[in-house]
Amino acid sequence: EKGGFDTYMLKEIYEQPTALTNTLIGRLHDDTGEVNLDIGLDPQSFKRISIIACGTAYYAGLVGEYLIEQLARIPVEVDVASEYRYRNPLVSENTLAIVVSQSGETIDTLEALREAKKGGAKTLGVINAKGSSMTRELDDTLYIHAGPEIGVASTKAYTSMVGAFVMLALWLGRARGTLSDTQAKDLLHATRELPRLVEEALNPARVAEIKRVAEKYAQARDYLFLGRGVNAPTAFEGALKLKEISYIHAEGYAAGEMKHGPIALIDANLPVVVVATESHLLEKTISNVQEVRARSGKVIALLSDGDTENAQHADDVLYVPRAHEMVSPVVNAVALQLLSYFTASYLGKDVDKPRNLAKSVTVE
Ligand code: F6R
Repeated sequence: EKGGFDTYMLKEIYEQPTALTNTLIGRLHDDTGEVNLDIGLDPQSFKRISIIACGTAYYAGLVGEYLIEQLARIPVEVDVASEYRYRNPLVSENTLAIVVSQSGETIDTLEALREAKKGGAKTLGVINAKGSSMTRELDDTLYIHAGPEIGVASTKAYTSMVGAFVMLALWLGRARGTLSDTQAKDLLHATRELPRLVEEALNPARVAEIKRVAEKYAQARDYLFLGRGVNAPTAFEGALKLKEISYIHAEGYAAGEMKHGPIALIDANLPVVVVATESHLLEKTISNVQEVRARSGKVIALLSDGDTENAQHADDVLYVPRAHEMVSPVVNAVALQLLSYFTASYLGKDVDKPRNLAKSVTVE
């Protein structure tokens, strides 16, 4: 049932090219640059978007915020569901509430959805589980089609959620006229490449290198993860995954925030994972890398293939396949999943059933 893998988590990590193919299939039209999501909702009928979710799905929502704001120029806010539902949120008929959930059963997200509906919002779900409770209450559901996810730590659902947000941002951008034909076709092409790029991210040589680095730092007490822009959430998700399954304390920060506090933690015992793949902000991120280095922190840099120049600033480099910046969070997440996985399994932890965690949180 684990298809030859030791754990569900590893099996699901390797299922990502297929899961992503299923997320994207039939929805991208290369010739026209259009995206067909079978959503009944009128993309012109709202002025703002609220994205609501918990945990890993929340981080997918943060990527969604970035993508939708950049590509469709609609104001987006993202909330954790447990906050949204109790803060008497500002909702109107001009609001589109997007809930994001693998299980479709998370109680806080379900209640937040009800809260948004009460205020008159239109509702859309980015959901994995067919026929789940949320789907019965949503106006529209964009299924991610990642297939059943058994491992408690979410992997393929995350990358498929992000894939779904790329399409959603494209769809909104096209409908609202903020994306030219050329931009749309470029992005569509980049999106279509994702399953292949993730396959490439899972090639044995790369995986072996991630395993080596994971074991080198497995005794660390703390870990810091940094990223910028569309990859700031990649850092947050990387930290969450590591703490969930290895029980190493980890924090994810937007790289530019480092000097406002977490820099105080840096010493020779602190591994700092920096997402430094190709980006219009790469130079900024590299200066953060240098700040970590100057304080003897150990830098594990995620770099795009071929970036030998920035390799000199890092103690260890994890190369990832080059991807369009807007879709790069999908590819980068895979490397960080494996880093957590190999750390936890080296430490002898039960990665499929981390202590104190349940796959679906149906009680508050
Ligand atoms: C992390 C993880 C959790 C879930 C969260 C939301 O690996 O699995 O943080 O992402 O409990 O669950 P869903 O997406 O089912 O609403």
